[in-house]
Amino acid sequence: MTQIAIMGTGMVGGAIDRYFRLHGVQAGLFDPPKGLSDPSVLANADVIFIAVPTPYYLDGSGFDDSYLRAAIEAIPVPGKTIVLKSTILPGTTEHMQREYPMHRFLFNPEFLTETTADRDMQFPNRQIVGYTAESRRDAELVMGMLPRAPFERIVPATEAETVKYFGNAFYALKVAYANQMFDLCKTLGIDYEIVKECAKAEPWMGTHHWEIFHKGYRGYGGKCLPKDTRAIIQLGDRVGSELTILKQAEEYNNIIAKAQGIDIQWEEGSPKKQSTPSFLKAMPKRYLVTGGAGFIGSTLVDALILQGHQVRVIDNLSTGKRDRVNAQAEFILADFTDLDQIKNHFHGIDGVFHVGALPRIPFSIEHPLPAAVANVMGTLNVFVAARDAGVKRVVYSASSSAYGAQETLPLRPDMPANPLNPYALHKYIGEKIAEQFHRFYGMETVSLRYFNVYGPRMADEGAYVTVISHFVRQYKAGQPLTVHGDGEQSRDFTHVYDVVRANLLAMESARVGRGEVLNVGAGERHSMNKIADIFGGPRTYTEARKGEARHTQADISLTRELLGWEPHIRFDDGIRQLLRDQGIHPAF
Ligand SMILES: NC(=O)c1ccc[n+]([C@@H]2O[C@H](COP(=O)([O-])OP(=O)(O)OC[C@H]3O[C@@H](n4cnc5c(N)ncnc54)[C@H](O)[C@@H]3O)[C@@H](O)[C@H]2O)c1
Repeated sequence: MTQIAIMGTGMVGGAIDRYFRLHGVQAGLFDPPKGLSDPSVLANADVIFIAVPTPYYLDGSGFDDSYLRAAIEAIPVPGKTIVLKSTILPGTTEHMQREYPMHRFLFNPEFLTETTADRDMQFPNRQIVGYTAESRRDAELVMGMLPRAPFERIVPATEAETVKYFGNAFYALKVAYANQMFDLCKTLGIDYEIVKECAKAEPWMGTHHWEIFHKGYRGYGGKCLPKDTRAIIQLGDRVGSELTILKQAEEYNNIIAKAQGIDIQWEEGSPKKQSTPSFLKAMPKRYLVTGGAGFIGSTLVDALILQGHQVRVIDNLSTGKRDRVNAQAEFILADFTDLDQIKNHFHGIDGVFHVGALPRIPFSIEHPLPAAVANVMGTLNVFVAARDAGVKRVVYSASSSAYGAQETLPLRPDMPANPLNPYALHKYIGEKIAEQFHRFYGMETVSLRYFNVYGPRMADEGAYVTVISHFVRQYKAGQPLTVHGDGEQSRDFTHVYDVVRANLLAMESARVGRGEVLNVGAGERHSMNKIADIFGGPRTYTEARKGEARHTQADISLTRELLGWEPHIRFDDGIRQLLRDQGIHPAF
């Protein structure tokens, strides 16, 4: 007998499950956020229905398909017949078929209404199965498993995907038309109800969507009509086929909604782009973190272990500390400037976080050669090792220092780089390596430009500590704080926990992987004088540091758009917590 699995057990997945149970078929359920995470139900299934959410983006770029991809990638064995049930734009099934050729994809549109989902599932008016060239022979099998309907058709997948939009946009149009006719009738003193009843008695008119009200207000509302109308209008715009009639209906509907004091939410609860795909959270992966004994790397390793992943750390302990490395991670003492030392450790790894570096500006000025060997050659070695081992994605820790001096703030990734010192140059070359490894070898890569990272475990010893640690050390020793220059130079400070979260999203997000460069900063800047004020106490002024930008401040709109990331920890809260952890009581 055909084994069935259902991924995503919300309204649609739940209705499918109940339908099969009613007919004596026990489908395997997979929905990690609800505790259903046994991958063997997927491995054993012949046909897998995917009904995970595909939240709608406000900016018109379509639906967030990261859950869908996460679901497909969670299937542990190739060769499955996958039936997509989620709401997707025309062309998505074909796209998935090309992206995941190891499976065969079908699309089966759902026409459920929330309140009558089970009845709609069991007694559909039509049953449509859409196929790709690869899944054509599976379409009959799947049609045979589904509830019978007076109208049954097996059609190409993209046509099947378009049916729902075609219908819902038409219903929206009908409601808008009904409302305008209602207004006309009212002006002329005509009873709209009588006209409507008589008109819709003609079968050609169709019985539904002549009501001018939806849930007590005029115009079309609910979830599907506004959303699908919006989506198909935007699709038309993107491909250069303007849907002017629908646009007018939408504009008119917005006007009457507003006149009633209603702000229709066009999105299905997804104002944010790209929420964390919770599906992936429960999916253990094998990750490698270079520099996993350092400040940022060790914090990232902890987060990955907490999420249930297997983690391997490569570090030569040059600035890192062995006792920071999470006991559940595998530690490899190796130097990535030597490819032979590291290359064998990349096999079987799903993703690499290349965090390791010699990240100090003064060191790179004083010792340009070893700094370049670690930061440039080391980075190249890591990318080569990852490529040769077939690693899917590398997230590279880049640096805001690549911006150097710019004419304007905030700093945007599309500004030309202007590295002012060797370290900044090395980090910038790393981004270019990441970009080219995507271009030439098809590896998924992302660069995250961090803006001054602070938080627990930040460097607090040696000659190259950052400003906050420097102040902490001086304050504790009862010395005046040394401020370089006039102290009005400013930096955008980012808490390490926010940086770690950006890394996790960059590794998971389906919207990145093509060598993008993204800012990871708080979007605010704070002067050295302000930070010294928080500590309180005396200070001395000394000469300005060479080779550094006067100000940094991140524009994070692209990061927000592609990763759904924004900082959670405000600088004032983060710094005060840090000082309290150090036994220092902030001056204000
Ligand atoms: N801290 C910041 O403010 C900041 C800002 C922008 C970018 N970054 C980038 O973030 C990354 C991490 O920075 P961090 O502050 O955690 O630094 P860190 O010095 O604490 O960590 C770097 C780690 O890399 C390891 N390492 C160095 N050379 C190595 C080699 N050849 N082989 C193996 N391991 C090696 C070190 O031992 C250390 O554990 C770096 O790539 C840095 O350029 C940091």
